[in-house]
Amino acid sequence: MTERFLGATALVTGAAGGIGAAVVERLTGEGARVVAVDRDASALAELYRHRDAVTWRECDLSEPVRDDFVASAGDVSVLVNAAGILRRSPFLDHSLTDWRETCAVNLSAPHRLAQQFVRHRLGLGGGGAIVNVCSIESFTAAPEHAAYTVTKSALMMLTKAFALELAPHGIRVNAIAPGVTATNMNAALRSDPERAARLLSGVPMRRFGAPREQAATVAFLASDEASYITGAVVPVDGGWLTR
Ligand SMILES: NC(=O)c1ccc[n+]([C@@H]2O[C@H](COP(=O)([O-])OP(=O)(O)OC[C@H]3O[C@@H](n4cnc5c(N)ncnc54)[C@H](O)[C@@H]3O)[C@@H](O)[C@H]2O)c1
Repeated sequence: MTERFLGATALVTGAAGGIGAAVVERLTGEGARVVAVDRDASALAELYRHRDAVTWRECDLSEPVRDDFVASAGDVSVLVNAAGILRRSPFLDHSLTDWRETCAVNLSAPHRLAQQFVRHRLGLGGGGAIVNVCSIESFTAAPEHAAYTVTKSALMMLTKAFALELAPHGIRVNAIAPGVTATNMNAALRSDPERAARLLSGVPMRRFGAPREQAATVAFLASDEASYITGAVVPVDGGWLTR
């Protein structure tokens, strides 16, 4: 593996599992130090207790983070917003609490963390990269996912809006749009053969994605190899969005 992040520090949310944990693995494998953020303190401890390159912070991103949250993490030059929640329910049953929490975690937290990250980077003269984790549902709606799909499409536009404003400061802002990836988020669905087969029939590659495949694209977008890419939302979906 290359060492594209030697000497760099990244802050990764949703780092206690799934795609976020794979991103931590990938970035540290390439030389980064990582500040791993999640609400699940025991999973963070379990994963990172023996990892010198990782410090971890318990944080519930459904609440606004402190003003100095990013600045106090050190000289962070990469921000990965991977934390996300999906509360499935028919539209008429979708509670206000679920709507608010989904908006807070999937949209407001990346917004607020990006603002703090940018202030911090501007104080150091600019530069740096943000990678947001959107979804194929940034582009297409799914039944019983109203809040999720709304927040993921808004996160896609936030990515582009930030990219426009921050390009003059050398801060690149991109996103991945994962297709169905094998994580806890969809474990129940994948373990039901009928539902899994129905889902796979929509994936031209006929398999679920692996978290490490999402992490590889995040690492590319965060690295200098993507130095002329900003405002991009890259599907990592086995071809789902070709239809
Ligand atoms: N798995 C998929 O098929 C898929 C597809 C498209 C997009 N995504 C997106 O990928 C990202 C990662 O999801 P995943 O599939 O790895 O799921 P996951 O459930 O395995 O991981 C999500 C992580 O976010 C954390 N988190 C949730 N709410 C939080 C909060 N309030 N504060 C702090 N941390 C919180 C969880 O504790 C968990 O560690 C999410 O943004 C998700 O929407 C996933």
